[in-house]
Amino acid sequence: MAIDTRPALPVADRVSGFTYAIRNIVVEAKKVEAAGRKVSYLNIGDPIPFGFASPPHLVEAIARAMREGHNGYTPSPGILEAREAVAEDFDARGLAVDPDRVLLTSGTSEGIELTLTALLNAGDEVLVPTPTYPLYTAVIAKLGAVERYYRTDPTQGWLPDLSHLETLVTPRTRALVVIDPNNPTGAVYPTEVRRALVEFSERHGLLLIADEVYADLAYDGPIEPLGRLDPDAAIISYSSLSKAYLAPGWRAGWMAVGRTPRLDGLLGGLRKLADGRLCSPGPMQYAITAALRGDKTFQQTLRADLRERAEITTTRLNAIPGMSCVRPHGAFYAMPQVALPPGRTDAEYVLGLLRATGVLTVFGSGFGTDPGMGAFRVVFLAPPAELHRIYDQIADFTGEFLAGRAASA
Ligand SMILES: Cc1ncc(COP(=O)(O)O)c(C=O)c1O
Repeated sequence: MAIDTRPALPVADRVSGFTYAIRNIVVEAKKVEAAGRKVSYLNIGDPIPFGFASPPHLVEAIARAMREGHNGYTPSPGILEAREAVAEDFDARGLAVDPDRVLLTSGTSEGIELTLTALLNAGDEVLVPTPTYPLYTAVIAKLGAVERYYRTDPTQGWLPDLSHLETLVTPRTRALVVIDPNNPTGAVYPTEVRRALVEFSERHGLLLIADEVYADLAYDGPIEPLGRLDPDAAIISYSSLSKAYLAPGWRAGWMAVGRTPRLDGLLGGLRKLADGRLCSPGPMQYAITAALRGDKTFQQTLRADLRERAEITTTRLNAIPGMSCVRPHGAFYAMPQVALPPGRTDAEYVLGLLRATGVLTVFGSGFGTDPGMGAFRVVFLAPPAELHRIYDQIADFTGEFLAGRAASA
């Protein structure tokens, strides 16, 4: 084919600010694979490739919905039955929610994107934890808004630094993002911290974006919705079937808008935006009903499996000279730190590890931490024996890297 010399079509400027390191780094892994090395993908929080299976009663609910002909568009907020199931589930957790204030979404991700889009004008500010789940900063950048990072502190179990938070508020601040249990750190916040965050958000008239996608994966058992601490606070809660119901590919999520009339305008905006995308995947909405009303005992096994893997991860990584790792209390991530020599970055360490061993993790700066902090995120969903093998490789590489013997990234 002749070389096409015509000018390339333009890409909008806003794309350049939209970075999502968790997937962006896969390009590097593919190069390593192409060179013949097996890659262990510890970059994405997806339980399915590691042998966890979606619960059969949820699969059956979708199959039945399809067989029974529920293959058309649904109402844009989602089918009433599933919204009622979401509301009942909140009720059972101690927070009364009106099904009319529930919207079904394509995963938590769409709820986050709809909310930030409905809320933010260019130049508005959002308080985002560092490290953070990077979708927040990507969408904020796309909207021409600004993230203001508040510290969470590894020396305090990755808990939010409340005094730092106070210094970041300006007249443009619109929202506070709280991820609890946390990705990427695995932290679960104690009640007094949760209460302080709600009180802070209310005092400054902010929307509290409560990312509760890991609520059922706290190892000691499900944590309550943040809104329970103050049902009249301006809080929107987000979750999905992706993590605690082992079905990330279904893109089945929901959001529940707090009862305060201060959120009525925003709810109207959300409904308007939701109309434009017609609906979230229809048959999957039937799985939401089955998940929230059905048997949840599989989650006990899941939590026990995750606790065991968290324990292996913390013990093994803390035994590596130059490395420290805060023990996770929920979800399937840990955020260890390696004591980098001056001038070296987290990306150099992570790419070096990938090229030397095929172990793919994500550098902390992809989640908003300082590159010199040497943080990186590990997804510990692999079976224990494989985790041990991977941590052997990390130990060997880290020794070489810190001794200055590893090949430069
Ligand atoms: C904190 C957090 N929020 C949201 C999401 C997106 O999840 P979903 O599959 O529900 O869109 C993830 C996925 O990893 C996450 O870790």
